[in-house]
Amino acid sequence: MQPADFHAKILIIDDSPESIAAAAAVLKTADYQLYVAVNAHIAMELITQQPPDLILLDVRMPDVDGFALCRQLKSQPVTAAIPVIFLTASDDETNIRTAFSLGASDYVTKPFKKSELLARVNTQIQLRQQQQNLQKAYQDLDAFCASVAHDLKSPLLTMEQLAAILQQDYADQLPPTAQPITAALATKAQETIAIVDHLLAFSRASKSALRYAPIDMQRLLQELYDELTAEEPQRKIEFTVGPLPIIAGDPILIRQLLQNILSNALKYTRYKEPAQIHFTCSETNREYIFCCKDNGAGFDMRGAHRLFHVFERLHSEREFPGSGVGLAICQRIVQRHGGSIRLTGQPDQGAECWFSLPKKPK
Ligand SMILES: Nc1ncnc2c1ncn2[C@@H]1O[C@H](COP(=O)(O)OP(=O)(O)OP(=O)(O)O)[C@@H](O)[C@H]1O
Ligand SMILES: [Mg+2]
Repeated sequence: MQPADFHAKILIIDDSPESIAAAAAVLKTADYQLYVAVNAHIAMELITQQPPDLILLDVRMPDVDGFALCRQLKSQPVTAAIPVIFLTASDDETNIRTAFSLGASDYVTKPFKKSELLARVNTQIQLRQQQQNLQKAYQDLDAFCASVAHDLKSPLLTMEQLAAILQQDYADQLPPTAQPITAALATKAQETIAIVDHLLAFSRASKSALRYAPIDMQRLLQELYDELTAEEPQRKIEFTVGPLPIIAGDPILIRQLLQNILSNALKYTRYKEPAQIHFTCSETNREYIFCCKDNGAGFDMRGAHRLFHVFERLHSEREFPGSGVGLAICQRIVQRHGGSIRLTGQPDQGAECWFSLPKKPK
C-alpha cells in the first residue's frame, strides 16, 4: 500500500507553455506532484532521474514527436509500465489508433473538459497504484515462499535420515506393527522434500537472471527421456522426438521446462500400454512452437484455467502422485523467455502440451 502522504508524480511533456499551464491548473487541484519537459530529450533525462507514475504526452513536438517517444518508452523494460495519456489537439482517427497501438493508456483531445481530464488521470493513477501494490505483494509472497521452503528443507532432510536409520539399524528391535509406521514416516518425509524442492525451483524460475546459450532441443529431450525412464525399464513406451531445432534459451531453465513436461507425459500415461509420447516442433517467422502429445489420462478442459496455478491438480494423489507445481514452473520459464504455454486434453484421450519460444532472445 502507498503511504497516506503519497503524491503521485505526473510528467507533462509538451512544447507549448499554454498547454502545460492548462493541464497543470487542473492537476494541481488533485495534489499531484507535477514536473514538465518541453521536448523528448529533456523528458528522457527526467524519467531516468525520477520515474513518474503517469505521463501526459503531446503528439506534435519538434525533433522527436510524441509517438516516437511513446514507442521508445514502451520498448524499454524500466519505462514500459508507466501509463501514457496522449493530450493533443488532434482528434484524427488514425492518430488515435496509432496512439493505442503504441501502448497508450488513454487519449484526450484539447481543448479538454477539466473534469474529464482529471477523471481520466485519476483512473490511470489508481490502476498504476493497484498494479504496483499487486506486484509488491507478489514479490513478498515469492520471497516468503522461498524462505519457508529453504528453512523447511534442512529439518525435513534430518527427518528423512532419522527414519532411514530407524528402518535400517533398528528394524529387528521394533515390534512388527511399528515397521509400517517408520516406512510411512520415510515416505512422507520424501514427499514433503519433493514439494519443498518444487517450491524452491518455482522461486528460482522466477528470479534467476536468464543466461542465453544455444540449446540442442533434440539432444536434450533424448537425454531427459533416458534419465526419466531409467528406473522403469519394463514400461512399454513409444517415444518419438523431432526433428527439433537448436534454440537460444537459458539451459538450466529450459532443461527444467522439458523435464516437467516430459515427466507429466510419462506420469499420466502410466496405465497405458503402450504409452505414446510424441514431441514435435513447427515454426513461424518469429517463433518455434513445440508440442508434447501423449495418449494418457487426459483431463477435462473445464479445469484447464487452473492447471498453471501452484498446487492445482486435476487428478487424485492416489492415482497420479504429484505436488501440482510443475506446470506453474513451466509457465514462468516460458513467459520469461517471451513465449506462451497451454495444455489441451480430453478425459482418457491424452493431452497435448503446447509451448512457444521466440527465435530471437527477448
Ligand atoms: N500430460 C498430462 N496429461 C493429463 N493431465 C495432465 C498432464 N500434464 C498435467 N496434467 C494435469 O495438470 C495438473 C498440474 O500439472 P503439474 O505438472 O503442475 O503438477 P503435477 O504433475 O500434479 O505435480 P508435480 O508438481 O510433481 O509436477 C496435474 O495434476 C494434472 O491434473
Ligand atoms: Mg508435473
